[in-house]
Amino acid sequence: MYDKSPDRSKLALVMVGLPARGKSYTARKVSRYLSWLGYTTKVFNVGEYRRQKLGARMQHEFFDPKNEEGAWARRLLAMDALDDMCHWLGNAGEVGIYDATNSTRTRRLELKERCEREGVSVLFVEIHCSDLSLVEANVKATKLTSPDYRDVPPQEAVRDFRARIAHYEAAYESVREDEGSFVRITDAGRRLEIHRVDGYLTSRVLFYIMNLHLTHRPILLTRHGESVYNRGGLIGGDTDLSPAGQAYAHALADFLDKHFPDSKSTVIWTSSMRRAVQTANPLGRTSMAWRALDEIDAGICDGMSYEQIRVQMPDEYEARKQDKFRYRYPRGESYQDVIQRLQPVIIELERTRKPVAVIAHQAVLRALYAYFTGTEVARCPYLSVPLHTVLKLTPHAYGCHEERFPLSPNIPPAHTQLPSTPPGDLP
Ligand code: F6P
Repeated sequence: MYDKSPDRSKLALVMVGLPARGKSYTARKVSRYLSWLGYTTKVFNVGEYRRQKLGARMQHEFFDPKNEEGAWARRLLAMDALDDMCHWLGNAGEVGIYDATNSTRTRRLELKERCEREGVSVLFVEIHCSDLSLVEANVKATKLTSPDYRDVPPQEAVRDFRARIAHYEAAYESVREDEGSFVRITDAGRRLEIHRVDGYLTSRVLFYIMNLHLTHRPILLTRHGESVYNRGGLIGGDTDLSPAGQAYAHALADFLDKHFPDSKSTVIWTSSMRRAVQTANPLGRTSMAWRALDEIDAGICDGMSYEQIRVQMPDEYEARKQDKFRYRYPRGESYQDVIQRLQPVIIELERTRKPVAVIAHQAVLRALYAYFTGTEVARCPYLSVPLHTVLKLTPHAYGCHEERFPLSPNIPPAHTQLPSTPPGDLP
């Protein structure tokens, strides 16, 4: 963990809510965000335990609270997942996300007591939805493709799932103040209740969740057009676009006009560096420049080629080669540092409901790409983000769809000193 908080106690985020309220979506998003920030995070999904132990095809009767056998089996599964989470948190784990309905007070009390006995603090995250159209949309978007309903005709699957929801509704109890710390999000963020959330990490999780929404709009990532330094094989600097880079800026304008013709419904962000701002100039659209999007600061190596660094500063060259993710240029930055300063950009990207085009730089875009695709952060310095290519990422319920559009294929990729594959010991 490198996003250091003074409070190093282990944390369990316990999801609460009826089925199809977006608990698993939220759990996975939070897990991806915290992993990206450097916390060892894992989701323990009780539904997956059920599928593994009992098979996928359980009909709604299994979830009926009056079905004693079903209730007993469900409790055992919940306790198995809890045992695993506590064991994991007792070792290397830092944040466990316990993803189940946890719909009764008794179950939550049991979970909380066990976690606290193990020295783990608990934050309940209740997702509540009074807008039934959101629930219906969620059922259709995620449940019909769930392994629970593989090969089941859609109408039958929807009917069974509604019956399952009704069983949970019969026994559902909202979290109350005497149960401890909780956050309750109603109708995808339209209403928020917070009770006793005061730690560094929990406040951060809360801030993140507050900004999530379910609109699946694309995010376009592109490096600036080729710069004078790119052409000379030099890193860093703040140089102008080369003629090929200017041609890319025009190609990008054509691309946006074709795919996103309504300029008012698209957001353009650049770094504050000349090459990024110049790439946005021909777009004819309003853009906003963020310093947080500036390229990794190469410190005393700024303006050098990788070969010059290898010859003149062999120790630095070797150190970066050994651990490119953590290596910090003297008086400059590491990839880890870049991730830390990108946090407000991630929050804004999550918050924005319009398509966003980000015109930035290789290292910065690798870090953003790693966040959206859930790539292990240590791999991020090796990701391929070529010049003159638009990466279109469209987040969906449980991941991200990716398309790549090379707009000027004749431009050679920027020189990078390291092989495009990470060292063998990376996962
Ligand atoms: O070469 C272009 C560039 O954006 C440099 O300014 C920056 O130092 C480098 O890419 C980052 O890539 P890497 O981490 O592979 O050196």
